[in-house]
Amino acid sequence: MEIITSVAEMTAWSNQRLKAAETIALVPTMGCLHTGHLSLLRTAQGAADVVVLSIFVNPLQFGPNEDFSRYPRPFTADCEAIAANQGDVVFAPQPSSFYPDDFATTVTVRGLTAGLCGASRPGHFDGVSTVVAKLFHVVKPNIAVFGQKDFQQLAVIKAMTADLNWDIEIIGHPIVRESDGLAMSSRNRYLSPTERQSALCLWQGLHNTRHAVKHGEHNCHSLLAQLRAQISTDPTVEIDYLSIVDDTTLQPQTQIDTHSILAMAIKIGTTRLIDNGYLTLEESL
Ligand code: PAJ
Repeated sequence: MEIITSVAEMTAWSNQRLKAAETIALVPTMGCLHTGHLSLLRTAQGAADVVVLSIFVNPLQFGPNEDFSRYPRPFTADCEAIAANQGDVVFAPQPSSFYPDDFATTVTVRGLTAGLCGASRPGHFDGVSTVVAKLFHVVKPNIAVFGQKDFQQLAVIKAMTADLNWDIEIIGHPIVRESDGLAMSSRNRYLSPTERQSALCLWQGLHNTRHAVKHGEHNCHSLLAQLRAQISTDPTVEIDYLSIVDDTTLQPQTQIDTHSILAMAIKIGTTRLIDNGYLTLEESL
């Protein structure tokens, strides 16, 4: 496995692969890898000849009071995990070379970024689309894999790729969960054991809402009221948003249909957690 930190070297490596008629898949990450990330890596390996996994804690997508400085950066352990999983290249650009002092460009996807995480994290998706656009230019992938855990991010990247006529196939990967249902996240390591227990309200909430839908409750307002009541029983959980949205437009719905996604964001202590899932699909552990 190769570790590349220079932008020029990364592009030169990709140019060689493309010249040899090999296909490249990209898995963008911010590191602190868990089984979910490695599962994306495996999907990418099945979809292309060579895989680049990028590790870059992107300052542009963090708000001023968010966890940029304390975001975990276990780079050596990450590289070992990627090597153990037969990754080809880790691309880890230096922040100063990716964003020099005179960096002045922002990629904005309008509409899809207005609600959900976009409403509570102003500027977040501009940061995401800008860094992913740069990664696409530098790595030149044929395929890029993103997790459905960040389903709004996935929708934004799909829209950006289509709008900017990038010939890149965007693959969405299902959410990878712990055995008790908690969606894997690099931020789970911030949680104390008690907070970790409280975080299960997301999975329980998704499960309970699916159960209610299955038993005939199709009114989104009632479903969300029940969910809010359930989650509010734990005073340590602060609700950011609970929303039922259409999977393509991300607009709130009034009645459940096969496109309905429950999207949730909460804060436990200082840790922000998100989860989501289709309401008309069964998902078992
Ligand atoms: P990060 O949070 O490190 O996630 C990297 C990728 O892994 C994203 O596509 C995310 O959706 C996916 N992922 C994380 N947890 C997952 C889980 N439990 N199951 C399935 N997929 C999961 O998302 C980012 O980084 C950044 O915004 C990035 C796209 C790298 C741009 O900076």
